[in-house]
Amino acid sequence: MAVPRTAPILVASNRGPVSYTLGEDGSLTARRGGGGLVSGLSAIGPESGGVWVCAALGEGDREAARRAGDNHLNPGDTGGQQVRMLDIAPDVFAAAYNGVANSVLWFIHHLLYQTPVEPVFDAEFAEQWAAYESYNAAFADALAQEAVDEAVVLVQDYHLALVPAMLRERRPDLRIGHFSHTPWAPPDYYRLLPDDVAAAVLRGILGGDRAAFLTERWATAFADCCAAVLGAEIVRGGGGGMATAVRFEGRETRLGVHGLGADADFLRERSRRADVDERLSALRAQIGPGRKSIVRVDRTELSKNIVRGLLAYRRLLETHPEWRERVVHVAFAYPSRQDLTVYRDYTERVRRIAEEINDEYGTEGWTPVALHVKDDFARSLAAYRLADVALVNPIRDGMNLVAKEVPVVSERGCALVLSREAGAYAELGEDALVVNPYDVEGTARALHEALRMNDGERADRTKRLAAAATALPPQAWFLAQLRAL
Ligand code: G6P
Repeated sequence: MAVPRTAPILVASNRGPVSYTLGEDGSLTARRGGGGLVSGLSAIGPESGGVWVCAALGEGDREAARRAGDNHLNPGDTGGQQVRMLDIAPDVFAAAYNGVANSVLWFIHHLLYQTPVEPVFDAEFAEQWAAYESYNAAFADALAQEAVDEAVVLVQDYHLALVPAMLRERRPDLRIGHFSHTPWAPPDYYRLLPDDVAAAVLRGILGGDRAAFLTERWATAFADCCAAVLGAEIVRGGGGGMATAVRFEGRETRLGVHGLGADADFLRERSRRADVDERLSALRAQIGPGRKSIVRVDRTELSKNIVRGLLAYRRLLETHPEWRERVVHVAFAYPSRQDLTVYRDYTERVRRIAEEINDEYGTEGWTPVALHVKDDFARSLAAYRLADVALVNPIRDGMNLVAKEVPVVSERGCALVLSREAGAYAELGEDALVVNPYDVEGTARALHEALRMNDGERADRTKRLAAAATALPPQAWFLAQLRAL
C-alpha cells in the first residue's frame, strides 16, 4: 500500500532517534537515542505531523523495519515521533556507510588521510560508490513518498549528500535543506576525491535550497569547493564579505550557519540524578583525595586525537614532576565504528599508550591514567561535574559538544584546553586555553597552565564559556533551520 503524502516537515539522517535489539524469543526492545537532532526535533512535537526517515542499522532495526513495512514505527518507541526506518540491503548499507561515508567522506572532511593512511580509489571503491548512490536514492524515494505538497525537508550529514538533488528531481515542489554536522574540507584536500565523486557530492547538496553548517569556516570551505570543482559562482554578503549563496546551473543555494549549542536545561537536570551521584562517588574514589583531574570524553575516533592527548599528558608528567601523584587523567574513549580496521587499531593504540604511561609513572597508590571504554552517559556527566581540566583536542571537529557541555555541568569551574580546529573554537576560543592539536609539547604546556589556573579565574571563565555554549540550544537550532527554509 502506498504511503499517503502527509508530512509537512521531514528529517532524514542515517542514524535515527531509536534503535532496536532482537531478543531470542523474537521480541524487539527499543532504545531511544540522544544527541542534538533528537532534542532539536522535540521543538516541533508529535502533533506537527513531522516524519523522520532513517536507516535500519542492525539486525533488530531491520526486523523492526520489516515488521513496520511502509508504515511508521510504533510511536511509543520513538517518543511519539513518526519514524520510517529504511531496510536497506545489508551489503548496500555496509558499502555506503562503512565504505563511502565513514571511510572516505569522513576522512576527507577531517583531513585524516595523511601518510600512511592513504585514500584508495580502486574498483572496490567504485562499487561502494554505486551502493552509496542507491542508499541515497532509497532515502529520496521514501521522502518523496511521505512529503505533503511544499513540505520542508531537512537532510542531515555526509551520509546523505546526494539526497537533496535526487529529491528535487522527484519532487520539485519541496523546500529542501542540507545540514553538515562535520567540518568541510578545503578545496586542495577535497580534490583528493575522484573528480566525478567530488562533483557529485557538491551537486547533490546544491540540489537543495539551502546548505547549512556549524560554523562560518565550514560554510566558506564548502563554497570554495563549489567554485574550485564545479566552477560555481560564490555570492558574497555586503562588502565582499562572507559567502552567502552558491549559484550553479541557473539555481541558487543559500548558505547558512547554525552553531548547535548545549542543552542546558536537560544537562542540569540529568546530571543531578541519583545514578550520576553514584558514579561521581566512584570516580572520586578512583582519583583519590586531594588530586586534580584532567577529563576527556570522546568516541574512540581518529579525528578526536586521543593518542596525542595521552602523549601530551605523559610529557606533562615528564616536564613537571610536581604533578606526579597529584593529578589523574580520566579518559573516556567509547568504542565507535569498530567494523573499520583503522578504528580497531586506533582503539588498541589508545589502550597501549595509557598502559605504558601507567607502567612508567604509576605508583602503589596512584594510577596516572584512568581509561574507561564502556559507554556510560551518566558517568560522563559525573566526570563533567568534577573535572578540573577538560581536554578537547581534535584534529578537526564539526563542533564538539563535549567542549560545550562541560562548562554547563561543571561544579567548581573547569579549565578548558581546546583545539583551534574544533568548530566550538569559534564560540569558546576566548575563554579556553587554545592548542594546535598536532603540537604535543604545546598541549602539555596548556595542561600545565590549566592545572595551575586559580579558582577565581577558572570559575569566571567557566561562567562565560557556559553562556557562549548555550547560546543556541538544540530546539532553537532546529527551529532556526525550519524558519530559514
Ligand atoms: C558524527 C556524525 C553524525 C554521526 C556520529 C556518530 O558526529 O556527524 O552524523 O551520527 O558521528 O557516528 P556513527 O557512525 O556512530 O553514526
